[in-house]
Amino acid sequence: MALLYVIKDWDADAWLGAMRALNPGIDLRSWPDAVGRAEEIRYALAWRPPAGALHRLANLQVIFSLGAGVDSLLAGGELPPVPIVRVVDRNLTMRMSEYVVLHVLLHHRRQRILDGQQQRRQWRGPQQPAACEVRVGILGFGHLGQDAGRRLRDLGFQVAGWSRSRKHVRGIQSFAGAGELKAFLNRTEILVSLLPLTPGTHGILNLALFRELARDGRLGAPILINAGRGKSQVEADIVAALDQGILQAATLDVFETEPLPPESPLWSHPKVTLTPHNAADSDPGAISRYVLTQIRRFEAGAPLQNVVDRNQGY
Ligand SMILES: NC(=O)c1ccc[n+]([C@@H]2O[C@H](COP(=O)([O-])OP(=O)(O)OC[C@H]3O[C@@H](n4cnc5c(N)ncnc54)[C@H](OP(=O)(O)O)[C@@H]3O)[C@@H](O)[C@H]2O)c1
Repeated sequence: MALLYVIKDWDADAWLGAMRALNPGIDLRSWPDAVGRAEEIRYALAWRPPAGALHRLANLQVIFSLGAGVDSLLAGGELPPVPIVRVVDRNLTMRMSEYVVLHVLLHHRRQRILDGQQQRRQWRGPQQPAACEVRVGILGFGHLGQDAGRRLRDLGFQVAGWSRSRKHVRGIQSFAGAGELKAFLNRTEILVSLLPLTPGTHGILNLALFRELARDGRLGAPILINAGRGKSQVEADIVAALDQGILQAATLDVFETEPLPPESPLWSHPKVTLTPHNAADSDPGAISRYVLTQIRRFEAGAPLQNVVDRNQGY
């Protein structure tokens, strides 16, 4: 049994090293220089694989995505007809929840305003509502969204989630499907997007959507946090919404083009906090452990978990 790594943009050696540390005898190959005999490869571990890199693997059983999102994998050309398993892992989930809680609190506690006041040596506290007076809405209420939502709920925020199917999470209001999107937006002051990128979510974070957000909250104009995927947002609309006061502030971890081009107005916009797509990194040790567990289950005849629905695109 051999595992083939097909990794672009990440340090492949770190991934091979992490897997070897867990299982020293394991047969690891890497694309393109050390593929060896292709018919021996049963599992592929991929991140942004170049088109065609996974073809001609006659005995391939499963493709593992090394990240939670599979948009780049699915967009990279035709894939062999085997199951694709994505990452659902405590380590990654915790990282994303840290990020979401940090940035909801950053805006809720008005830290950017306080930073400016510190620079000007001003001793003045802006009016501070309690968390229970503030409504947070999470677009994409899946594994990551629900974990972050529970933590925000436990801090006292009024939390709602929007997903395709109805969810039942204690103390969190569930909105489902396109028909309930408007009602979800109308009650939301801080909007957090953790949506996967699919044809249904491409460009969804646009001016028309921002105009639907609640403007009657204690924080004033609404706030956007996007740590899902960059192509879900229309950056020109975010800038326009910030400049026109339709949005008060934005935290962005993901961008239409990554790395964010130096000429992007987002870099220096006073109402934007941005991070370089590092809200929830895939940790090679943690994710390798997850993949090994999945392979052992599969080899023992148990069903694979977290299999991607190719028709839905996530
Ligand atoms: N910035 C980072 O560092 C980073 C790191 C990891 C992941 N991510 C992003 O986070 C995304 C979410 O990860 P996850 O593990 O939470 O995925 P997930 O468990 O598959 O959750 C996705 C959620 O989005 C909902 N959804 C998808 N399409 C929709 C649509 N058209 N309308 C309404 N709801 C829709 C799904 O609804 P259902 O529940 O009804 O299916 C589900 O609730 C990933 O796809 C990736 O893009 C970013």
